[in-house]
Amino acid sequence: MAKTRQSRRVSKKAGIMAGALSRDIVEGIPASILVFDKGMRLISANKNFYTKTGKSRKDVMGKTVYRVFYPILDARRMGLVDKIKDVFNTGEPSRGDRLSYRSNLFFYKVNPIRDETNEVKNVMLVMEDITEVTKLEQEIIEANKKLMDANKKLKELDKMKDEFLSTVSHELKTPLTPIKTYLELILDEDIGKINEEQRKGLEISLRRAEHLKRLIDDIVDVSRMESKKMKFYMENIDLRNIIENAVRDMKLLANEKQIKILENLPTRPVYVKADEIRMAQVFSNLIDNSIKFSANGGKITINVKKERGNLSVNISDTGPGIPKKHHKKIFEKFYQVDSSTSRAFGGTGLGLPICKSIIEKHGGDIWVESKVGEGSTLHFTLPAI
Ligand SMILES: Nc1ncnc2c1ncn2[C@@H]1O[C@H](COP(=O)(O)OP(=O)(O)OP(=O)(O)O)[C@@H](O)[C@H]1O
Ligand SMILES: [Mg+2]
Repeated sequence: MAKTRQSRRVSKKAGIMAGALSRDIVEGIPASILVFDKGMRLISANKNFYTKTGKSRKDVMGKTVYRVFYPILDARRMGLVDKIKDVFNTGEPSRGDRLSYRSNLFFYKVNPIRDETNEVKNVMLVMEDITEVTKLEQEIIEANKKLMDANKKLKELDKMKDEFLSTVSHELKTPLTPIKTYLELILDEDIGKINEEQRKGLEISLRRAEHLKRLIDDIVDVSRMESKKMKFYMENIDLRNIIENAVRDMKLLANEKQIKILENLPTRPVYVKADEIRMAQVFSNLIDNSIKFSANGGKITINVKKERGNLSVNISDTGPGIPKKHHKKIFEKFYQVDSSTSRAFGGTGLGLPICKSIIEKHGGDIWVESKVGEGSTLHFTLPAI
């Protein structure tokens, strides 16, 4: 008997605590909660509602939904009245909708509250203030639109740049071809004898014309790579042949500075799937750098090794080396460690970015290891076959 009384007391206390807890939740929730009876009169509202609307209890308690939201009357709010009616009629919760009240925007839902006989006695309106979120949403939409417009403009500019480059390079190359041909003809003495002084001048002119041609080709290559228009003709080739040919082509330039080029190549063929011309371009760009930046009497070593299914290639020189902070940047377009107009070496800063694009197109990686005063080593990998 005593126990029953005690347990009744315990359950009453638990009931009071649960009531207090749900009251705390309702009051603390960051949304307005309003309860309407069948006559659509307000029978309960939480603190959030009074804070948001600035109304007092006596303004709204026991008043109809029209009065509660007075003086704002708009089509959306009328939709709210219909929704409340529907919930009473169907017993089903309403779908969420938006409602503007004063200068705020709310997301609201109407839920049925049933009595013990399961009849819908009241409805609960939950309104969440989404003014800020909507504003942010709007800002994101606008920012996105701006980005898309900017992107479209950039694409148009890019297309114009491509067209401009291809026209200019064509216009520049057209007169260059006969200039080179005539210089070669005169140098070969096909037209008549030339003296030593004339030969020297003509040789310089021819070298400059070749340099100009390479520059135009590089600019066209970079633009093609960026617009992904560069075509690669892949075939199975022995990398050793490419290296030997590239070294042969660069020998003259190396000899001028008494630089030795050593090749450490495997004795067996080293097959790769590659575009022969593009791969040759990688070697000549890298060897060209090593010759250009090294002092007279230097040494260049080319190593090729097979490593875990990959080919590992490196080209080291005894040049000045590259400070660490430039190691990544030298693969960016037009980047040069010394970019001053008074710099000692010619070039545009396109050789390495072209190498990087070509190597990556072949499924490999390229990077540099170097310390100032200890030379530079350009490494790259290629998938072996
Ligand atoms: N072997 C090297 N030794 C020292 N510095 C190097 C070496 N290779 C590249 N660099 C540095 O990296 C920069 C970028 O090289 P990259 O080949 O892209 O351009 P470039 O040789 O200056 O011009 P381009 O190749 O277009 O004629 C060079 O200007 C140089 O500062
Ligand atoms: Mg270069």
